[in-house]
Amino acid sequence: MAVAVVTGAAGFIGSSLSTRLLDEGIRVRGIDNFDPYYDRKLKERNLRPLLARDTFEFREGDLGEIDLNRLLQGAEWVFHQAARAGVRRSWGADFSAYVKANVLATQRLLEALREHPVERVIFASSSSVYGEGPGGPATEDAPCQPISPYGVTKLAGEKLVAAYRECYGLPTISLRYFTVYGPGQRPDMAFHRFVRAILEGRGLEVFGDGRQTRDFTFIADAVSANLLAARNGVPGGVYNIGGGSPASVLDVIHTLEAIIGRGAEVCFLPAEAGDPRATSADTAKARDELGFQPTVSLEEGLRQMTGWMSQLLQDPSFGNRH
Ligand SMILES: NC(=O)c1ccc[n+]([C@@H]2O[C@H](COP(=O)([O-])OP(=O)(O)OC[C@H]3O[C@@H](n4cnc5c(N)ncnc54)[C@H](O)[C@@H]3O)[C@@H](O)[C@H]2O)c1
Repeated sequence: MAVAVVTGAAGFIGSSLSTRLLDEGIRVRGIDNFDPYYDRKLKERNLRPLLARDTFEFREGDLGEIDLNRLLQGAEWVFHQAARAGVRRSWGADFSAYVKANVLATQRLLEALREHPVERVIFASSSSVYGEGPGGPATEDAPCQPISPYGVTKLAGEKLVAAYRECYGLPTISLRYFTVYGPGQRPDMAFHRFVRAILEGRGLEVFGDGRQTRDFTFIADAVSANLLAARNGVPGGVYNIGGGSPASVLDVIHTLEAIIGRGAEVCFLPAEAGDPRATSADTAKARDELGFQPTVSLEEGLRQMTGWMSQLLQDPSFGNRH
């Protein structure tokens, strides 16, 4: 049975990816350090169904410290999802945590991979490497000019991955995710905050005027992109992974009001530094080389996310917490 290593396996994307891999008959070795960026209980909740499966093995540990030889032993695929995510908190004193998780830990993993030949290494990159972007759908060769410290660290990760590919032949691929959402989304992300506030009958906060647009990507589509990249991706390749239907933040709030059947009271806050005005992915390369095709519409994805959040709020560990 093939073995896949998933770093950041307790996180939003890593846990969902682990589930899909197990469903496809692949043995998964997950690693996560429960970075304190958000509530550990949410990550433990993500992990619970995985731990019940006998083809899932989990280690708590930091990629910057653990014995990577043990982690990588016999692995065919490595999905490197672990990172300190989130644009807003990457300014100021927290930046060192971003460098440690996103740059130093990535370099340490790549160094260890020199001794462990694997079929593919998939690196979770981000649309934030583009910064403000080209003003229309970005192709992968658009200039990378990140406007947040987070984006700088993700671009550094991509460049490291490319350097180890170039000099040591590591079969690396970078996927540039465009705003991923759906069940399990991180609590700092907008949809998580919006769905929760509307369900709880509280006002919600929007950074900026709400007219900023994003190419929102449903979690199942982001997960599919990882499997397609492992199977079909060209080593050295960089691929945009976007949902295919950009929408504004206000559009999303209106859709949520319709789904939940309740109006939202919106409080507008100043736009945050580092948040681009618009992101939009040209996914032709992922379609042509990987066979990637997003399948879940924004409305359907928001319905699934609302269902998940309703369940989360019924969980006594989360219902009364924020
Ligand atoms: N969610 C999005 O919209 C989005 C968009 C673009 C890129 N990404 C990238 O996708 C990946 C997953 O993002 P997510 O939203 O699931 O975030 P997440 O925070 O839910 O998951 C990341 C996980 O990595 C773990 N981790 C961090 N540093 C670690 C270390 N040194 N050792 C071991 N584990 C460590 C964290 O504890 C966390 O559980 C990240 O690389 C992120 O930069 C996410």
